[in-house]
Formats: sequence, structure tokens, C-alpha cells
Amino acid sequence: MTTAQQHMILATVPVLREANVLLTTHFYKRMFQHNEELKHVFNMGNQQSGKQQTALAMTLLAYAENIENPAVLLPAINNIAHKHTSLQIQPAQYAIVGHHLLASIAEVLGQAATPAILDAWAAAYHQLATWMQGHEAAMYEQQAATPHSWTGWRTFTVRKKIAVSAEITSFYLYPADGGKVPRHQPGQFISLRLFLPEIALFQIRQYSISSAPNNDYYRISVKRETASQPDRNGMISNYLHDAVSENDNVEIAAPAGTFILQDTTRPAMFISGGVGLTPFMSMLETLLQQEEIPQVIWMHGCREAAVHAFKAELIQWEKEHESLTQKVFYNKVTAADIREGIHEGYPDIHQMNIAQHPAHMHYYLCGPGVFITKQYQDLLAAGISRDHIFYEEFGPQVLSLSTS
Ligand SMILES: Cc1cc2nc3c(=O)[nH]c(=O)nc-3n(C[C@H](O)[C@H](O)[C@H](O)COP(=O)(O)OP(=O)(O)OC[C@H]3O[C@@H](n4cnc5c(N)ncnc54)[C@H](O)[C@@H]3O)c2cc1C
Ligand code: HEM
Repeated sequence: MTTAQQHMILATVPVLREANVLLTTHFYKRMFQHNEELKHVFNMGNQQSGKQQTALAMTLLAYAENIENPAVLLPAINNIAHKHTSLQIQPAQYAIVGHHLLASIAEVLGQAATPAILDAWAAAYHQLATWMQGHEAAMYEQQAATPHSWTGWRTFTVRKKIAVSAEITSFYLYPADGGKVPRHQPGQFISLRLFLPEIALFQIRQYSISSAPNNDYYRISVKRETASQPDRNGMISNYLHDAVSENDNVEIAAPAGTFILQDTTRPAMFISGGVGLTPFMSMLETLLQQEEIPQVIWMHGCREAAVHAFKAELIQWEKEHESLTQKVFYNKVTAADIREGIHEGYPDIHQMNIAQHPAHMHYYLCGPGVFITKQYQDLLAAGISRDHIFYEEFGPQVLSLSTS
């Protein structure tokens, strides 16, 4: 890409910012019209909510804004690469995306999109796509070289299906080929693919592994996502709850994800909302299996006792391990909850005596986007450094707190 093209890209940032979601919405519509097979790859639920459009638009804008120094985007590119490889995205698909993206820029911007601007964007897309594909190719190679791991989709059998709250159910997934699995890094997720007869499409969703690393199975714990209108209920989560039984098969991709325990010797605070507790089950079990267990404080919030997943198990672990302290909040408490030490309201770090925490403590957040944003800002306001805070949003990563 020439310097003149870099300047042209920078000059078009305001126009792109203006067109932002309009452009990417147009792009997805166009792409699915011409390449219907990609509906099996994308999350059709996210297309409804517009979240995926925003995620792609944000990356494009960030790339355009940093075109002179794209290396600052490496952490973001690495996150996307984890998601992409878990979805089995292939180089040929980059060409399809690039084709529809450029056509969409031309169609949405109309006369403002001069041939020179389109050429500059073609060069920029090519540069970004080449970078991303290279990163992803290295990850596929690493997967292929890891003992017991695999690339592509592997069939797993649900050996056990156990309800852990009124709306969360755990699935114990064992390789159908009788083989072993690689130990995941605590906090990572798998992608799960199912064919949904109702819409005649494969659909893929990510689920955090809620068990400690081992070579035999992965446990995932899935919340049934319901809406006020039944036709808007979550597709895969309800299918898993209602139609997938013990001994049924599902397809999964090898573990991926960058939200992992950074340092198993450091004190850690986990902050979770609702089903956001799943990656922490894996992290905590891992720490509790160590000879030296660092201090762990876990603040969790959910609506009420009925939806408090893994409650008995966690109370038992807290009794057995001095290093573990829990503080649990329910939106509404009963007298029985109060007797059990449950707090009323929403998880709030102001109730956690943060000034007394060790200075090198790491803070891990998981839950809905608004929940993470609030906790992140409260932690910063309490003087916690950005490099000590890690988070995972259960959807397309639209938050970019570390640069805000
Ligand atoms: C890294 C990662 C880890 C995750 N880990 C877990 C986990 O451990 N456990 C877990 O339960 N989930 C987890 N998730 C979320 C999971 O991947 C799915 O997003 C979730 O199960 C919902 O999928 P679904 O197919 O049931 O819902 P979808 O069909 O994708 O719908 C998503 C939401 O949109 C709503 N919706 C659907 N149609 C409409 C419409 N027309 N208008 C408005 N709203 C609509 C649905 O009610 C639902 O709430 C994780 C996600 C990520 C990215
Ligand atoms: C330069 C090109 C691309 C950019 C900038 C880009 C960017 C992104 C971003 C930011 C996300 C969200 C990541 C997250 O959830 O944390 C994402 C997810 C995703 N990307 Fe890409 N991507 C590109 C190319 C592709 C290609 C070629 C494909 C395959 C056709 C693809 C398919 C997907 C899918 C399926 C998801 C998950 C979203 C969902 O499930 O709906 N992407 N991408």
C-alpha cells in the first residue's frame, strides 16, 4: 500500500464512521444473498441484534485509524483470530468477504467512493486480511501439532447432562472416537455446531469450558435463553436443553480464547454475573488442585436462589479451602438467603474492601456487556491498574475498554 493510499484511508475515516453500521448491515445482506452457504457459519441470532455488524465495523474503523501503525491492534487481532479459528474460518472466505465489502463501500458511499478511494480500501483490506490469515494459519498449525488436538469439527458424545440451576444445564462431552482431548487453558471456550432443522442451517455458538483441564472430556454449562416472544428464544441454547439428550452427538472445535488465568500464583478476584460464572468454575477448580493455592475472592450476582448455578459445590469448596472467599448477591433475597449470608442487590466492589486487597491481585470479569463495563469502571475508579483487569463478554466482543 502506498503512502498516498494510507492518507486516503485516513481521510475516509469520518465518512466510514458516519456510514458505520449502515455499511456493514448492507454488506452482510449482500453477502448472504450471493453466498448463502455462509449462513451456516455466521450466528443468525447476532445478525438479528446487529451486534456482529458493530464488531466488524469497529475493527475496520480501528484499522483505518491506525493504518500507519497497525501493530497496536495486535491484541485485538489475536482475539478475533481465536474466535475465527474456533469457527474454522478459511482463507478462501476472506476473498468472499473482501469482494462484498468493497462492493458495499461502492454501493453505500455512491459517488463519494471514487476509484482511487476504492483502490486504497482494496489495498487496506488485502493488508488486514493477509495479516489475519497468517495469524490464523499459525494457530491452525499449532492445533494440528498439539497432542490429542484436532482441526475442523470433531464429534463428541454427551455422556452426562445435569441441571445445575433452574436455567443452566451442564453437558459432559467425550470424543465419540474414543480418543483423548488436549488440556485446555482454564477460561477458554469451545465452539459447538448443531444443525437446526427449523431453519435448515448449521449454527455455531461458543461455550466456556466449566471443568478443570483434563485429557478425557470437556464440560460446558449452558443457560436457556428465553425471550418474551417464544419465536425469539435463543436457538442453540434451547435446542441443547430440549432436544439434545445423553448419548446424542454434537460437533465441537478445539478450545480457543484469550481469557485465561494469567498467573496461577497470583491472588485473583473473579467477578461474574449470571451464567458468566462458567469460565471461573474451570479457573477455580484448577487453582484448588494446586499445592500452593493463591487467595481467591469470588463476587457473583444472579437473580435469585433458583438460578444460582453450582451453589452447593461452591459452598463445599469454600468450606474446604481457606484461600477461597465468596460474596454472592441476589437481586431479591428471602429470609433463608440472608441466613445463608447472601447479599441483596447487584455485585458491587464498594462492598469488597478493595483497598485491603494485595496490590498484585488480578481481576477477572465475565457477564453481560453492561455488567462488565460497570465493574471495569468501578475497579479503575478504585485505583486498580488496567493491566490487572481481564474480561470476557459472552457475545461478539464490542467492548474495547482497555483503550477507552
Ligand atoms: C466466548 C463465549 C463464551 C460463552 N460461554 C457461554 C457459557 O458458558 N454458557 C452459556 O450459556 N452461554 C455462553 N456464551 C453465549 C453462547 O455462545 C450463546 O450466545 C447463547 O447460548 C445464546 O445462543 P442461542 O443460540 O440460544 O441464542 P440466539 O438464537 O443466538 O439469540 C441470542 C439472543 O437474542 C435473542 N433474540 C433472538 N431473536 C431475536 C430477535 N428477533 N429480536 C430480539 N432478540 C432476539 C434471544 O432470545 C437470545 O437472548 C458464550 C459466548 C461467548 C462468545
Ligand atoms: C478483515 C476481515 C475480517 C475482520 C476485520 C473481521 C472481524 C471480526 C470481529 C471483530 C469479530 C468479533 C470477534 C469477537 O466476537 O470477539 C468477528 C467474528 C466473526 N467473523 Fe470475522 N472478520 C473478518 C473476516 C471474516 C471472514 C473472512 C469470515 C468468514 C466468512 C468471518 C466470519 C466471522 C464469524 C462467523 C464471526 C463470529 C460472529 C458470529 O458468530 O456471528 N470473518 N470477525
